[in-house]
Amino acid sequence: MEANVDIERKVEFSTAYRWQHWIRAASIVGLVITGFYLAIPFVAPAVNAEPTNFMNALFRSWHMIFGFFLMGAILYKTYFFVFEKDNEMERLAIKDLLNLKIWSQTIGYYLLISKHPKLSGEYNPLQFVVYFMFYIMMFILIVTGLILFVHSYHGGLGAILYAPMRSIEVMLGGLAWVRQLHHIVMWGVILYVVGHVYIAIFNAVFRREGAIDAVFSGMKWREKHKK
Ligand code: HEM
Repeated sequence: MEANVDIERKVEFSTAYRWQHWIRAASIVGLVITGFYLAIPFVAPAVNAEPTNFMNALFRSWHMIFGFFLMGAILYKTYFFVFEKDNEMERLAIKDLLNLKIWSQTIGYYLLISKHPKLSGEYNPLQFVVYFMFYIMMFILIVTGLILFVHSYHGGLGAILYAPMRSIEVMLGGLAWVRQLHHIVMWGVILYVVGHVYIAIFNAVFRREGAIDAVFSGMKWREKHKK
């Protein structure tokens, strides 16, 4: 931003939005760590004469706990995107998806050869496509995770979901493939997180609107009369 540009502080993210972001981020970190253990156990419990070394069960319990936190956050955010009355800006981003000029300006912006495009909505088209793919990955992880879950927990929610999840398991080609798919998609999420953090830092540096601070404080700096 050039000197002498009139800027103001504007609310960007609500408190609930910020909570779901950080719950989601912490859950993903927890799920990746415990998921790696479930795939290839990288620690062994201290040797002990008692049959109490249920380390795998402990990691799996934590994986489930993080998994249900993640499901809550994703469900809330999906509801927020589709139905929240004051959230027009996120939905308006769909409009820019079909605009070739905005696509080329967006790519130019990330290559540092043009200014950030003027958008109708909250996200540029590249950002929107990446976020959309993230939700597809989340959906696959949740469904495959729930299939794996009903094989470990047979009471309560496990009992309710058992029949529908077994049907989806058959449609997907069996439990072994479900587990593999769950694992492969984890790598997609890891790639996404690396790219997401890189772009967040990129925006904080080049747009100077306080993009990273905003996920803590909820406030961004914007040029006056700019959306
Ligand atoms: C970012 C999200 C997630 C990541 C990165 C992730 C990662 C993983 C990985 C790597 C494994 C081991 C797979 C293998 O054996 O190779 C696993 C297993 C599993 N995951 Fe997830 N997961 C996620 C979300 C979920 C969710 C939402 C649930 C639903 C409750 C879930 C439930 C399970 C279950 C039940 C297992 C199998 C545990 C076992 O083998 O005993 N996961 N996960």
